[in-house]
Amino acid sequence: MSSTKPRREHRFRGVTLPTSAHPAIRRVKRKDVHPSIHGNKLWKSSCLLIDYLHQNPPAHANAIIDVGCGWGISGIWCAKTLGSQVTSMDADSNVFPYLNTVAELNGVSTTPLVSRFEELSCEQLSRFDMLIAADICFWDELADPVSKLVDRAVEAGVKKILIADPERAPFFVMANRCVERHCAEIIDWQTKRTRIKAQGALMLIENA
Ligand SMILES: C[S@@+](CC[C@H](N)C(=O)[O-])C[C@H]1O[C@@H](n2cnc3c(N)ncnc32)[C@H](O)[C@@H]1O
Repeated sequence: MSSTKPRREHRFRGVTLPTSAHPAIRRVKRKDVHPSIHGNKLWKSSCLLIDYLHQNPPAHANAIIDVGCGWGISGIWCAKTLGSQVTSMDADSNVFPYLNTVAELNGVSTTPLVSRFEELSCEQLSRFDMLIAADICFWDELADPVSKLVDRAVEAGVKKILIADPERAPFFVMANRCVERHCAEIIDWQTKRTRIKAQGALMLIENA
């Protein structure tokens, strides 16, 4: 009888994406570290974001904040590929042992920040060239704090704001507000010529 072993990792646009079956991820799980706000895997929207940046390299990418980072692959891709200094921010401190494992597998590190969207101040945001996020509008009640976070990032002078999503309804509530307030673009996106199939939308603000 043949047994199919679960895949341990994927390669995508120059980074390694471990699955839950990866031995290094399993070691973290065995320590009873359990993210509780859906930061329990690498979500595919981060591949949309990476793919977009791969095809549209940003002009200003020295300092980047990845908000609602979860396991952090979007920021890790920026650190590895663009040489960015990345701050990985999440409300759930339990995501960071996983993020550190993913970063180590990719030979980079990022600066952790435990914070909520609603707590990030203009002063904090003003230190970044770009704000990125993937799949952070997954509940109706997140549309408001994420919209307000984007308002503060624009006010703080963050040059590019890019949020990827699998097209959940609250994402469009947030993104349409950004179209009205900040002339944001909503871009349909899908990965092509890769084994990782991801499809969704990106909200982009050019604030340079
Ligand atoms: C669906 S996961 C996406 C994780 C990651 N961006 C990815 O694409 O793999 C959403 C993340 O947002 C975080 N999150 C949820 N509400 C938050 C809040 N109010 N402030 C900061 N982070 C939050 C969760 O802890 C979780 O890690």
